[in-house]
Amino acid sequence: MRKTFFITTAIDYTNSPPHIGHAYEKVLADVIARYHRLKGDKVFFLTGVDQHGQKVQQSAAKAGIPPAEFVREITQKFVDLWKKLDVKYDEWAETTSDRHKKVVQGILQRLFDAGQIYKDKQAGYYSVRQEQFLTDKERGPDGEFGPEWGQVEFREEENYYFRLSQHKDWLLSYIDNRKDAVIPDFRQIELRNAVEKLSGDLCISRPKSRLDWGIELPFDKEFVTYVWFDALTNYISFAGYDPSLSTISSQPSTFRDRWPALQIIGKDILVPAHGIYWLIMLHAIGFPDDQIPQLLVHGWWNLGGAKMSKSAGNIIDPFVLADKHGAEALRYYLMSDIAMGKDADFSEERLVDRYNSDLANSLGNLLNRTLSMANKYGAGQLRTTAIRLNEESKQIPVGKSIHVMSSGEPTSLPSNSKELGLRDLIEKVPQIYVPAMSCFLVSLGLILPEEISEHCNRLVEKTAPWKLAKDAAQIHRLHAIVYHLAESLRIIAILISPVLPRAAHGIFDQLNWKMELSGQEERFSLAAAEWGILPDGHAVEKPVPLFPRIEGA
Ligand code: MSP
Repeated sequence: MRKTFFITTAIDYTNSPPHIGHAYEKVLADVIARYHRLKGDKVFFLTGVDQHGQKVQQSAAKAGIPPAEFVREITQKFVDLWKKLDVKYDEWAETTSDRHKKVVQGILQRLFDAGQIYKDKQAGYYSVRQEQFLTDKERGPDGEFGPEWGQVEFREEENYYFRLSQHKDWLLSYIDNRKDAVIPDFRQIELRNAVEKLSGDLCISRPKSRLDWGIELPFDKEFVTYVWFDALTNYISFAGYDPSLSTISSQPSTFRDRWPALQIIGKDILVPAHGIYWLIMLHAIGFPDDQIPQLLVHGWWNLGGAKMSKSAGNIIDPFVLADKHGAEALRYYLMSDIAMGKDADFSEERLVDRYNSDLANSLGNLLNRTLSMANKYGAGQLRTTAIRLNEESKQIPVGKSIHVMSSGEPTSLPSNSKELGLRDLIEKVPQIYVPAMSCFLVSLGLILPEEISEHCNRLVEKTAPWKLAKDAAQIHRLHAIVYHLAESLRIIAILISPVLPRAAHGIFDQLNWKMELSGQEERFSLAAAEWGILPDGHAVEKPVPLFPRIEGA
């Protein structure tokens, strides 16, 4: 059992400003962190930026400013974006910091002393433009190196190598012994296949003549370490790891309480960086198998089926979208319109459609009509009754299929799921919402609150409270309807709070509920997502539009 739920993301390259793909990963991590806080877990969420390396050195040179200044400006853009999107992290990693350098150098020295790092000469074809050695894989069908490599020359260069291949058998057995080393399953298979093919060691240095924007090797001042070795170490250096202590049990308690992490990364950096280099690095510096982190691999947002890239000029700017439609609209779209592990196609039109249908028309409308009715028919006060309205919302076509997870695997609800009523649905929080969110299937986790909202709206249409209001004998039923809607809204707010924290506060504010914790995340707790907590006589506020429709986008 983890003492702390420790979650990390990839650290973003600071050679160019953030795009929608970066935003997706960080919002996803933030949602998972918020969900665990909602459950009452202690959470530590680390994210940050990758500031060294050739790409940064080149971009800075192009901009005509020193790399340190260049990364400072880009780093600020990432910090600003996370603030704008309510991505709330506990620690911020910057790889140029002294604290990180000390850990990287400490690990390098330990591996060098243990004979895990050695110097060797490499001879081969080198692309001057791309500043890298080329292998046969880079040759075109005609056997030549294509024009993208520019001038290619034969070179000899000395470098330091990490004995990666020595640990191949260990990595295979680790993967075979742990079913959930990588999530989703198909990525674990992909990794295993790649490890099978592993041969050769990893070059972990660059001569300073070629690259000087990096961390110097502690045992040879003529070299800096290659960017992956530097970047991957961030996960432990910012979690309190002390490189001078070789066993985990001797590490400071801050580190031991946090580690191992759930590491969220994109599909492009599983093989070889995280799945091979990182896991082997940890093993080589003494991490036992039960301290190897779990990798959660997400898919990519594409545009018109094509990869987004700066060179193709099809980058989606998250600042522009958040300014135009609001941070919550963007968070909602990024979390609801992609299945965990799969790719999705970005579309602003879809963003607007989903916002308007799920949030403005369904949830926003529900909040508005509930508070209007509470004010009109109950002088703003709720009345508890023993009437259980469930049958009234049954037999309605359920728009989306709800998935129930058993033993962590998603399966569909039985075909009679359409028979579920509002109260049945609310009782399904532990069977639908919790397993979906615990398995990081956020888009599935959002289905239950959406369904509850839909059922509530249908309940209003079916029972026509405005007609009941004309008949004094129906007053209890009318109160019961309003109470059911208000309780449902309170529970919906809790369930959406990881994805839509501002809207969840908005709903609680209008319900005039837990006002002493207004604006604070502690206001929401999963334990309170059960029926019947709003007390008799509770006074609610007047309605204020929560999700104004986005028109003509
Ligand atoms: N700096 C390295 C990671 C080092 S981790 C020790 C890096 N940076 S990156 O800026 O290129 O990418 C950061 C993260 O964003 C990666 O997990 C990557 O998969 C993710 N994404 C980049 N483009 C993306 C999309 N279009 N869609 C979704 N995620 C994407 O790699």
